[in-house]
Amino acid sequence: MEIPFVYGKIVSDNDFVDRKEETDKLVSNILSQTNTAIISPRRWGKSSLVNKAIRSVSKTEDSILFVRMNAFKCETSQDLLELFAKRMVEEISTSAETVISNAREFISRLLPKLSISGPSGEYELSFGVDLRESPISEDVLDLPQQVASKRRKKVIVCIDEFQQIGEFSDTKKFQRILRSHWQEQPDVAYMLYGSKKHMMLNIFGEYSSPFYKFGDLMFLPKISNEVWVDYIRNRFAQTGKTITDEVASTLASAVENHSYYVQQLAQYAWLRTEKECTEGIVDMSLQSILDSLNLQFVNLMDSMTEKQRGFLCAMCDGVRNYSAIQTLAKYKLGTSGNIRIIKAALKKRDIIEDAGGTLEFQDPILRLWLQRVYKTI
Ligand SMILES: Nc1ncnc2c1ncn2[C@@H]1O[C@H](COP(=O)(O)OP(=O)(O)OP(=O)(O)O)[C@@H](O)[C@H]1O
Ligand SMILES: [Mg+2]
Repeated sequence: MEIPFVYGKIVSDNDFVDRKEETDKLVSNILSQTNTAIISPRRWGKSSLVNKAIRSVSKTEDSILFVRMNAFKCETSQDLLELFAKRMVEEISTSAETVISNAREFISRLLPKLSISGPSGEYELSFGVDLRESPISEDVLDLPQQVASKRRKKVIVCIDEFQQIGEFSDTKKFQRILRSHWQEQPDVAYMLYGSKKHMMLNIFGEYSSPFYKFGDLMFLPKISNEVWVDYIRNRFAQTGKTITDEVASTLASAVENHSYYVQQLAQYAWLRTEKECTEGIVDMSLQSILDSLNLQFVNLMDSMTEKQRGFLCAMCDGVRNYSAIQTLAKYKLGTSGNIRIIKAALKKRDIIEDAGGTLEFQDPILRLWLQRVYKTI
């Protein structure tokens, strides 16, 4: 029997729920060539959303070329330029032969060396140069417009984990270079998305940043509890099992409607259910997710200072005024002057975030683990 509920990969078709408004917005930005930056905490569904918008546009439009890349592994600006050139050439090529001719046509001055392996014509494009000795020219950033003009198409460049550029040693200079090339391209738009909220905000939200007002800035909201309830109920029903709306709602709320965890918890609960899913089953399933993450969270706590750990415990207890004398003493936070520093450090590590004036854990399971496991040790 097919197991419903999918987590840990991009979801599409029947597994993709909701996000109608965001999909429409992205589709319209693609069609109007509006640059877009998408920000959300990890695993809320950015990649799935972009994928959905691209698929939806591709069904009816063949005059738009999408070039997708993931900056996750890029450690330097040269890595990004190399990735950019490779992905451009790969995306406009339909076979190994066209890769060669396109590489010659568009990036011949980079002396690309091609290795083709496998009987099915799989290929790997590599540049036959030492990047440190002869660095890739930043002119590769003009490739999208060159391709757009030559092919008489519009190009949308999608870069996942874009916040990675914030880690480059020359980040500000490189951001200025990117911006100066990209803003001169009438037939190209960029979709830049990433999960490290504070980093993405540094890039797109700071007045002094080259990417300030680069285009639409979209904060992905969570999928609502009602939508999850419908989805979970239907998935159980389609596979001959049942779950009441109440239990489905408890399930999604237990993980604060966090996309990845809702799918994971629903799958665990579905696997444990013979006929009808109960709250007891949901709780057992939640416990097993907590168990599986125990070691990871222990290591995370080990990597923090005592004050940071104390602060997280105070957050779990629903403390609002962290500077109150009793709070400082109870959670060993030191003086009230420390609070700002502790918060900043935890935000920088993407452990907590400001959500409309209140502080929240980015990972709802970490909050539960602190409550159920850590604080009882
Ligand atoms: N629209 C959706 N419908 C159903 N499930 C979803 C949806 N969006 C996300 N999910 C669930 O969340 C998981 C993570 O989604 P996705 O990889 O798209 O998020 P992301 O924000 O790109 O994550 P990361 O921060 O790791 O890049 C999916 O595997 C799926 O379980
Ligand atoms: Mg992603």
